[in-house]
Amino acid sequence: MTGVVDSFGRSIGYLRISVTDRCNLRCLYCMPPEGVPKIAQSEILSYEEICAVARAGAELGIRKVRLTGGEPLVRAGLPGLVRMLSQIDGIQELSLTTNGTLLKQYAPALKEAGLSRVNVSLDTLKADRFRCITCAGELSDVLEGIEATRNTGLHPVKINVVVIRGTNDDEILDFAEMTRKAEWHVRFIELMPFKGTAEFVPSIELRHQISSMGKLEPCHDSAGPAGNGPAAYYRLTGAKGTIGFISPLSEPSFCSRCNRMRLTPDGKLRPCLLREDEIDLRTPLRNNASSEALKRLIQKAVASKPERHHLEAGSNPCPKAATSRGVMNRRMSQIGG
Ligand code: GTP
Ligand code: 5AD
Ligand code: SF4
Repeated sequence: MTGVVDSFGRSIGYLRISVTDRCNLRCLYCMPPEGVPKIAQSEILSYEEICAVARAGAELGIRKVRLTGGEPLVRAGLPGLVRMLSQIDGIQELSLTTNGTLLKQYAPALKEAGLSRVNVSLDTLKADRFRCITCAGELSDVLEGIEATRNTGLHPVKINVVVIRGTNDDEILDFAEMTRKAEWHVRFIELMPFKGTAEFVPSIELRHQISSMGKLEPCHDSAGPAGNGPAAYYRLTGAKGTIGFISPLSEPSFCSRCNRMRLTPDGKLRPCLLREDEIDLRTPLRNNASSEALKRLIQKAVASKPERHHLEAGSNPCPKAATSRGVMNRRMSQIGG
C-alpha cells in the first residue's frame, strides 16, 4: 500500500495535476465552441508551486503523478515541468493525459524529460466526425501523435474513448478491431454529466456488442495496461492490445477502488472528481507555507474524501441533475478528468 489511507480504508497514492484550463480543441461534451471564461494567469500555479505540492505529496506516499488539463501540452514548457517532477524522490510514475494533437511535436522531449507514459483522448476514427466532435481538430494529427509516442518508447499508450449515445456509439467495434490490428489499449468511458444532455452508454452494452467479435478474456497483466486506475481490462482472444471499461455511472463499486486526488490549475486540492469540495493550497503556497503545512492540508483533503459520488446508476446525466448534486462548480477542463 502506498499513500495516505482515507476514512474508508482506501490508499491514496495517485495525484492528478491539471496544469491548465486552456485547450486547443472544443469537444462537444466539454466546452462550448466559443470557449469558456479562463482562469486568470496570475491564479494559475507556477511549475515551482506545483512541484512544492508534489514534493509534499511524495513525502506522504504519493507514488504516481498524472498531468492533465485542459490540454496540458498547450502550457508553455511542459517538458520542463516533467523534468522537475521526475527529480522528486518517491514519484515512481509520471504520466500524461492529452488530446494528442501536439504529441508529434512533444513526445521525444517528454520522454527525454522523464515521462513514463501517455493516455490519449480519441472519440472517433472518422476524420469528419472528429472535426464535428472537437470543433476544430484534425484526426491525422492525433493518429500521428500516437505513433510518434509509441516510436519514442512511451508504452503503453492508452486511448480514451468517451462513448456518447447517437454520436460515436456506432464505432465501438471499429475501436475494438484496432486492438487486434495493433497494440492499441482502448478504454471506453461512460460520459459523466459535466455538460450537455448527451446520454451515456452503460459499459455492459458495449461488452455485449464487442462479444460478437469473439471472447473477451479478463486481462490482469501487470506489465500491460492494467494496474493504476478505475478501468476493468479485457482482451479479445489473440489480440495485441486490450479493451478497458471505465464505468463511473453503471458500476456500483467504482469508487471503492478510488486511489486518487486532484490538483486544479488554480491550486485547489479536490478530493473527488464529482464533488465540489476543495481545499485551497495556493494561498498557503504564496504565503510560503512549509512542506509540513502542505502535508497537513493534503492529509485533511484525503480525510475528507467521500465514500462515493452520487450520480446514481441509470440517472439521466443532465447538467441540471448534476448541479443539484453539486457537480458543476467546475468544468472537466478545469479538473482534468
Ligand atoms: P491509468 O493510470 O492509465 O489507468 O490512468 P487513468 O485511467 O487514471 O487516467 P485517465 O486520465 O486516462 O482517465 C481516464 C478517464 O477516466 C478520465 O478522464 C475520467 O473520465 C475517468 N476517471 C479517471 N479517474 C476517475 C475518478 O476518480 N472518478 C471518476 N468518476 N472518473 C474517473
Ligand atoms: N465524461 C467522461 N470523460 C470525460 N472526459 C472529458 N469529459 C468527460 C466526461 N464528461 C475525458 C476525456 C479525456 C479525459 C481527460 O477526460 O475524454 O480522456
Ligand atoms: Fe474517487 Fe470520487 Fe472518482 Fe469516486 S467519483 S472514484 S470517489 S474521485
